[in-house]
Amino acid sequence: MLDADYDSVLATVDELARRWLNGIPGRPTSIESTAAEIIRAAEKQLPDEGAAGAEVVRELVAMAEPGLAATGSGRYFALVTGGSLPAALGADWLVSAWDQNAVFAELYPGVVAVETMAAGWVLEALDLPRESAVGFTTGGQGANTAGLLAGRHAVLAANGHDVEAAGLIGAPPVNVVVGAEQHSTIDRALRLIGLGSDCVTRIETDRVGRMKVADLGAALDRIDGPTIVCAQAGNVNGGSFDPLAEIAEVVDSHRARRRDLWFHIDGAFGLWVRASPSRFGLTTGAEAADSWATDAHKWLNTPYDCGIAIVRDRQTMGRAIGYRAAYLPAPGDVADPVDSVVESSRRARGVPVWAALRALGRAGLADMVDRCCDRAADLASLLAEVEGVELLHTEINQVVIAVDGPPNGSHPDVHTHRVLTALQNGGMCFPTGTTWRGRAAIRFSVSNWRTDIGDVSATVDAVAQSVRE
Ligand SMILES: Cc1ncc(COP(=O)(O)O)c(C=O)c1O
Repeated sequence: MLDADYDSVLATVDELARRWLNGIPGRPTSIESTAAEIIRAAEKQLPDEGAAGAEVVRELVAMAEPGLAATGSGRYFALVTGGSLPAALGADWLVSAWDQNAVFAELYPGVVAVETMAAGWVLEALDLPRESAVGFTTGGQGANTAGLLAGRHAVLAANGHDVEAAGLIGAPPVNVVVGAEQHSTIDRALRLIGLGSDCVTRIETDRVGRMKVADLGAALDRIDGPTIVCAQAGNVNGGSFDPLAEIAEVVDSHRARRRDLWFHIDGAFGLWVRASPSRFGLTTGAEAADSWATDAHKWLNTPYDCGIAIVRDRQTMGRAIGYRAAYLPAPGDVADPVDSVVESSRRARGVPVWAALRALGRAGLADMVDRCCDRAADLASLLAEVEGVELLHTEINQVVIAVDGPPNGSHPDVHTHRVLTALQNGGMCFPTGTTWRGRAAIRFSVSNWRTDIGDVSATVDAVAQSVRE
């Protein structure tokens, strides 16, 4: 029989989590063990006998820690990784302790109320239509999928086709127009919602990855039938924004002739610049969209897993996604989250969003976004001065570089890969790789509330040393 021994388990977790978190500034950003090594070292059959909770937690930490990435470090620049703000982390722990199923207001009013307030604050912070439906998803992938599901519903309904009843059988073909550099989660979302990849028209992008609006206009002139236009706020490599105001204008001019047009924006991290008065202008026009996807676990610095799907028209979101059954509560006076996410049961992942926004306030959020952009600008300008480094692009919080080849005739990509590996193994900073205009590149995403000028200098020194070696 298991004990209700929360005290010793939570005391152990408290001790081990503090050790981890407080150790992060001094911890190497390199990863000690691979997943395969950890599995080999730890693999055993499911034990016959159980173990005390605190012992389980210690065993878990001993097993996983060599393979943990220092995501909370100010010098962790992989993917687009926000560290956890302390208040968001605390709220996240409570979410697990409370163990509420945040989908029905009637049954779980405490967390649904908090999430409803968080949703309102997100709309305020991003200055998006306050009447919108907000779904707290697992991430940007989930948020893009939800937005595109809503779009699929709307463009087919405008053609008299009820996709929720009839599915896609007998539906008019749906066109999806995207920039050539849209994030791959858009392609996966299209697969998941039954539209596939053949429906996609890819619009050429300029040298920094922005959709060419004239080509979009020409494509929309050519295309007939239900259409979803999908733009991007924040390119995952260089941080560029599609020209949203011009795209909104093109979409608007076509809407005047047809109702079966939907405008979605993937702003997984870039949409957060709307919280900064000095950078808001990068996204002018975004407010004209029908749906938006963003992530709290990126630039809002909540723990994983939290994306945010926003759909202007609540009814469309509800019709595309919502569901009910005899054993479930009927809709009440507060909207049920079950109608804006694809999960039937889920943790209250919007609660850390409330805590992050409460801890930051409007000014703190703007400051966090601005600080990340400023530190990225520092990083870019200092790296550009390092001999052998070529700054390929920088925008908002993203920095992309390549490394010139040594004079031994080997391809420069080889040297860039070598430097990337040296940085990842060196423990001082952790960027990741990509390709930029066909060249191997190293990308730094400055998305962590903790990154300061000391982190930037240490990173520049590490790059300079790796290039020299
Ligand atoms: C522009 C963009 N869209 C979507 C995603 C996917 O987000 P997630 O990994 O949270 O699903 C990312 C991730 O970096 C992104 O940068």
